[in-house]
Amino acid sequence: MAHRNKTIQLEESDFDLAKNFIQLNQPEDINFIQNKIIQQDIFSALPFLPEKFVDLLIIDPPYNLTKTFKDTTFKSMDNQEYQEWFASWFVPLLKVLKPTASVYVCCDWQSSVPIFNVLNQHLKIRNRITWEREKGRGSLSNWKNCSEDIWYATVSNDYYFNPDAVKLLRKVIAPYKNDKGEAKDWFVAQDGVPYRLTYSSNLWTDITIPFWSMPENTDHPTQKPEKLIAKLILASSKENDFVFDPFLGSGTTAVVAKKLNRHYSGIEINPTYCLYAEKRLLKANTDKSIQGYENGVFLERNTSIKKLHSIKNTFNSQKTYSH
Ligand SMILES: C[S@@+](CC[C@H](N)C(=O)[O-])C[C@H]1O[C@@H](n2cnc3c(N)ncnc32)[C@H](O)[C@@H]1O
Repeated sequence: MAHRNKTIQLEESDFDLAKNFIQLNQPEDINFIQNKIIQQDIFSALPFLPEKFVDLLIIDPPYNLTKTFKDTTFKSMDNQEYQEWFASWFVPLLKVLKPTASVYVCCDWQSSVPIFNVLNQHLKIRNRITWEREKGRGSLSNWKNCSEDIWYATVSNDYYFNPDAVKLLRKVIAPYKNDKGEAKDWFVAQDGVPYRLTYSSNLWTDITIPFWSMPENTDHPTQKPEKLIAKLILASSKENDFVFDPFLGSGTTAVVAKKLNRHYSGIEINPTYCLYAEKRLLKANTDKSIQGYENGVFLERNTSIKKLHSIKNTFNSQKTYSH
C-alpha cells in the first residue's frame, strides 16, 4: 500500500521555497502580489491589498466548527458570532473586486445561513451549488453529513459565465432513439456504454475528496479537490484573468488557476500549508493535469483510466454533444 501513497510530503530542500512567500506591510500594487502567496494573517494583509483587480474570488473559510489547522484552532461559535466574524474580513475584502467579478464561497449547512446573510447585503446571489462528499462520519442521533454548499454571487449583472467549459460526460441510463432508430444526443463509447455530454447543474455528484492515492493530496485537513475548483475557474473566468483566494490552505485555487492559465494570489497564515502550495505550484510547471477533467470535459466520479481512454477515443472521433 505504502508505495502507492502519492501524498505530497515536504523534504528538507522544500523549505527553501519559503523565499517565494510575500508579506504585505504597506499598500502594494497588483504586480507585487500576482502569482505570489501571501503568508500572513488575513486581518493584517487586508488593508494593503490593491483595489479592483480580482475577476474571480474563491473563498474556502474555516467553517463554523472547532478545527485545528496546524498551530491555529478555529473555535465553533454561535451563528450570530460567526456571521460577525465572517463580515469582519469579508466586507473590507470587497474592495478587491472588479465590477464584473464573480464570487464563490464554500460552506457546510451550518455556516451556509450566516454566510448567505452577509453575501446578500453586498452582492447579487445567483445560485447555491451543493456537492456530495463520498465519506462522512456516521451518527446514531443524526443524519450523516455528506453534502457541502458553495454560494455563487456576482458584483453586478455584468459578469462572465461559460457553461460550455464545464460540461459533464454522463452515462445514459435509458438511451432514447427516434423513429429512424437514430441516437440524437448520445453516443456509444468503445466500452459499449452510452454517454451524453450535459450542462452542469447546481448538484454535483462527481467530486472525490483528495485521499492518499491521489497525487494532489497533502496532509491539509480540509483540502478541496482540484476538480471542484477547476469547475469554478472554468465557468467564471477567462485565461489571464486574476483569481484570488484569501484562505488558500494547501494552495488548491492557486494551483488550478496556474494549470488553467489564470493569474492567482492568495493568503494563508500557516507557513507549512504555504510550502505545500509552493511545492504544488512548482509541480504545475510541468504537470497541468487535473484528475477527473480530460479533453475539456468533466468525468463522472471514479471513471477508470482504461475506460477513460476508450471514452476519449470515441469522444474525439464522434462529436455528438447535447445540452
Ligand atoms: C478551509 S481551509 C482552506 C483549504 C483550501 N481550500 C485547500 O484546498 O487547501 C482554511 C484555511 O484558512 C487558514 N486560516 C485560518 N485563519 C486564517 C487567518 N486569520 N488568516 C489567513 N489564513 C487563515 C487555515 O490555516 C486554513 O488553511
